Amino acid sequence: MARKIIMDVDTGSDDACAIMLAAKSEELEILGICAVNGNRTLEETTENTLKIVELLGMEDKIPVIRGASRPMVKDLLPSRAHNAQTPSVHYDENGNEICYHPASFDLPAPHTKPLEKNFITWYADTILGSGEPVTIVAVGPLTDLGLLFRCEPKVLENIEEIVIMGGGHNQVNTTFASEFNIFMDPEAAEIVLQSGAKITMVPLDATHAASTYLSEAKLFRDLHTPVGDMIAELIEIRTNAYNRLQPLWDKDLCPLHDALAVAYLLDPRVLKHVLYTRVDVDISGGFADGATIVDTRVYRNMEPNCYYALDADRDLFNRIFYERIAGHKSV
Ligand code: BDR
Ligand code: CA
Repeated sequence: MARKIIMDVDTGSDDACAIMLAAKSEELEILGICAVNGNRTLEETTENTLKIVELLGMEDKIPVIRGASRPMVKDLLPSRAHNAQTPSVHYDENGNEICYHPASFDLPAPHTKPLEKNFITWYADTILGSGEPVTIVAVGPLTDLGLLFRCEPKVLENIEEIVIMGGGHNQVNTTFASEFNIFMDPEAAEIVLQSGAKITMVPLDATHAASTYLSEAKLFRDLHTPVGDMIAELIEIRTNAYNRLQPLWDKDLCPLHDALAVAYLLDPRVLKHVLYTRVDVDISGGFADGATIVDTRVYRNMEPNCYYALDADRDLFNRIFYERIAGHKSV
């Protein structure tokens, strides 16, 4: 039987890859996709999510829900608020926009709409109404889950696992201490980490290691399908942004962060060097605002609260991704 999942996304180029990978994997059944403020505004992340669901032709099966439009509390203080917004846009020497996440995907305007239901009610009804436990794949800021666990903590009784793309121990990407998803709503992330649920964190340490080369975009292009073309285009956009704004350990490659969180559900071996340890988030609002503090000591003095991956298998990830999209899997 397929594992039931809910995706919480801020779509976003790599969120889109994660949605397409999950939708094309028969091992997973997506009960719904909740969009949140993050890479772009809530309006934009919701619309991009609807576009991807329609590209997949799954609008009758997968509801899209509007989540939170602002962080829980981070934007109350001006000193913290300035960063808790959609990232600024950069331009190349010809005036072309360089960005990781297009505000509006180059796809037809959606003809469907998000559900009218409030996201807390939708989450509670869906999780508590599910015969089998539900897994949440959270690949944006954790605002929706932080609010949900405060309003309806009972849902935790029917959550199998929460897989989070977020955090970084040896890698950061937003400030010198923090990763984007956690930085955007540190209090929500800490609520989730303290929730008692089984949590697996897929941080930058793992996603950078699993990066995808530009040459691999061609494989998707050669599928000659709308989904393959979209994935190729997103890899190209991201590679350009990484080459220019955030060079990695090699040229012409980019991490597809959020898709690795989905790949873990398909084959856990894709994550390597996984610690079962204590992870908390700095919520003091100082230099380390939003940093994930990972206890790597042998003698811990706090209970472990999550599985945290320090590495990943690049080849396995890219094979899983390609094969599920191509529709002929060997792993
Ligand atoms: C995370 O931040 C977002 O920009 C990406 O979609 C990913 O979820 C990586 O730090
Ligand atoms: Ca994301």
